[in-house]
Amino acid sequence: MSTLRNLQNKTALVTGGSRGIGRGIALRLAADGARVVVHYGSDAAAAKETVARIEAAGGEAFAVQASFGTEGAVDSLFAQLGEDVELDILVNNAGIGSARGIAEVTEVEINRLLAVNVTTPLLVVQRAIPLLRDGGRIINIGSVASRMAVPLQIGYTASKAALESLAPSLAIDLGPRGITVNTVAPGVVRTDMTAHFLAVPELAAGVESVACLGRIGEVEDVADIVAFLAGPQSRWITGQTLDASGGTWLGPMQPAA
Ligand SMILES: NC(=O)c1ccc[n+]([C@@H]2O[C@H](COP(=O)([O-])OP(=O)(O)OC[C@H]3O[C@@H](n4cnc5c(N)ncnc54)[C@H](OP(=O)(O)O)[C@@H]3O)[C@@H](O)[C@H]2O)c1
Repeated sequence: MSTLRNLQNKTALVTGGSRGIGRGIALRLAADGARVVVHYGSDAAAAKETVARIEAAGGEAFAVQASFGTEGAVDSLFAQLGEDVELDILVNNAGIGSARGIAEVTEVEINRLLAVNVTTPLLVVQRAIPLLRDGGRIINIGSVASRMAVPLQIGYTASKAALESLAPSLAIDLGPRGITVNTVAPGVVRTDMTAHFLAVPELAAGVESVACLGRIGEVEDVADIVAFLAGPQSRWITGQTLDASGGTWLGPMQPAA
């Protein structure tokens, strides 16, 4: 549990803060003192629970709704933030997965993956830039899927590679204002997105076996890394991807001597 409180007087927007990794990030940033805007798509009850958990711990949060990938979603998100909101931290976390290979993936699915995982975060960044205070932080949640071959998720890997490509260019544009832009790339994390295949013991064991640290990731593993990037101690890191996977697939695993 965080005791740093180094985000006091900061405001963070966490997309997809209602569930999974985004909820973990929202709770952690709030524990560090930030006021958190918890964005959600369709699960209002989950967003409410994230807000309630933050408030119960003495923090400040409110929820905003926007269905990414539908017309006007980004306008609607920013309308709910209000005219004079100032942001310090933007975490582009909301995303969708897919489980189709090259033989089955459809144009509709690829377009949806790109709309939610790439176009929307890019437009959210565009709209957030004038609201971000100098010295702010943008953190995009990528995936190890952009550095590993995952044939059964070809549309997803393409979307995450595209998302990851944004940070270096944005880092150049925003560097003069002291705003850093980085990607955090989780390995497999236990959330609703992965519940179906982690429920299969052989598949869960396979995930554990390719991580140097020998286990499946938890949302807090990712949230702690995001909190570091959101805080003052990461001020000299920008345009980078930080792996958050316990060393997943660094190469063929060797048995311990
Ligand atoms: N879990 C993993 O193993 C893993 C690994 C690498 C990267 N990631 C990335 O981490 C991020 C979070 O993943 P997760 O596992 O926490 O997923 P999750 O449990 O499925 O949660 C997804 C979150 O994104 C929101 N969201 C999804 N589609 C949306 C849409 N169309 N419009 C608005 N909000 C939407 C959801 O909001 P609602 O519930 O309100 O709709 C929810 O808060 C994603 O970008 C994912 O690609 C996950």
